[in-house]
Amino acid sequence: MKIISKLSNFFPATLAREESFCNRLNERQEILNNILKCKHVVLSSPRRYGKTSLVYQVIAENNIPCAKIDLFLAVDDASICKFITLAVESVLKELIPLSTKISNKILEIFKSFDVSVKLGDSSYSLSFKQRGLTNNTNDIYVAHIYESLRSLSELAKLEQKSVVVFMDEFQEIIAGESCNAIMGAIRNVAQESEYLTFIFSGSKRHLLTTLFNEKRKPLYMMCSNIVLNRIAVREYRHHLNQLAIHRWNAELEDSCLMQIMRYTEAHAYYVNLLCDTLWEFELLPNTEDVDKAWQICVKHEKGRIVDELNNLTHAQKDILKSIALYPTDKPTSIKFTKLINRPLSTISQSVKSLLEKDMIYKIEEVDPELEWKSEGYYWVLDPMVRYMIVSQY
Ligand SMILES: Nc1ncnc2c1ncn2[C@@H]1O[C@H](COP(=O)(O)OP(=O)(O)O)[C@@H](O)[C@H]1O
Ligand SMILES: [Mg+2]
Repeated sequence: MKIISKLSNFFPATLAREESFCNRLNERQEILNNILKCKHVVLSSPRRYGKTSLVYQVIAENNIPCAKIDLFLAVDDASICKFITLAVESVLKELIPLSTKISNKILEIFKSFDVSVKLGDSSYSLSFKQRGLTNNTNDIYVAHIYESLRSLSELAKLEQKSVVVFMDEFQEIIAGESCNAIMGAIRNVAQESEYLTFIFSGSKRHLLTTLFNEKRKPLYMMCSNIVLNRIAVREYRHHLNQLAIHRWNAELEDSCLMQIMRYTEAHAYYVNLLCDTLWEFELLPNTEDVDKAWQICVKHEKGRIVDELNNLTHAQKDILKSIALYPTDKPTSIKFTKLINRPLSTISQSVKSLLEKDMIYKIEEVDPELEWKSEGYYWVLDPMVRYMIVSQY
């Protein structure tokens, strides 16, 4: 029993780290280079491709102090302010160990920005001094965000240490009433910082694009863009074989490895989901075992997938189904539209919505080992959604 619970750490449903982390060597190096050059980064991909795991990995393996801010649950200015200041507070501990005598220089940084550092029993806390009376509390939130980030940037400079502010699911910042002012505050800090690098990551790419690429938006032109693709089959072969040796003292048959890749299409979340079940098998698995494990996963995930499909309109469901069954590079061609009894305008609109919702994607980079997927073709993004549709017809 104990062994199984230990093994399940190989394939986490949440963050991949240590031995569960597969490859991403180029991306790790690229992100590290950006941090060292203090060049801010926008990291995007559909959800569950491995953005959060990747940034955490780079931070951990290079020992870089990082304010980790997850905006996933942001609902308003107050919550955004709280997430940012709490994260800044916790990174202070890494920058100024409690045993260090607080120098006047450090106090000066915080004093001049209207932030006070309190030495508690085991941690620092930032508390904001009352400002002059103003009717607009949202302005105060924006000021607090600015002051805490700017203080952190100054402190990083004083310590001459690279520090990262990681804003995960950054597109949710639009939940703040003062979202433009908050982004302006971030930009003001970001454009002057010498040691503080911002990494913005997000799963809703069309929203991220509007935040970063539109001229009138304040973060325009400030970042390098990294788009995260799926991990190559070649890398997974090496990774899974190592973990198979841990488990069964043997590598997987290549047919078995390819069966895992056929079901999961190298989608990081699904590889972990399937392998987590498979690694509980007593004996080194074969392709039939992979089939069995996949069926167990489908049973577990079915409810969630049905819910996701129910968020689509009838037309979108129809088109998703047709793309699953008859992948095409021209969804508005006569040949494809004949399969769907709907007006061309509905089809174009639905394809656009499905792309924005990350239900489908256009294949741009083909993994040579997943040769049934061709460049330029539209494909269902979630391999289990595709499987469920295809196996119904
Ligand atoms: N490099 C990796 N190696 C192995 N598994 C990974 C890797 N990156 C992510 N995963 C797995 O993929 C799933 C999604 O990862 P996560 O980092 O939460 O993605 P995102 O932030 O893009 O939504 C998790 O199950 C995680 O363990
Ligand atoms: Mg994430």
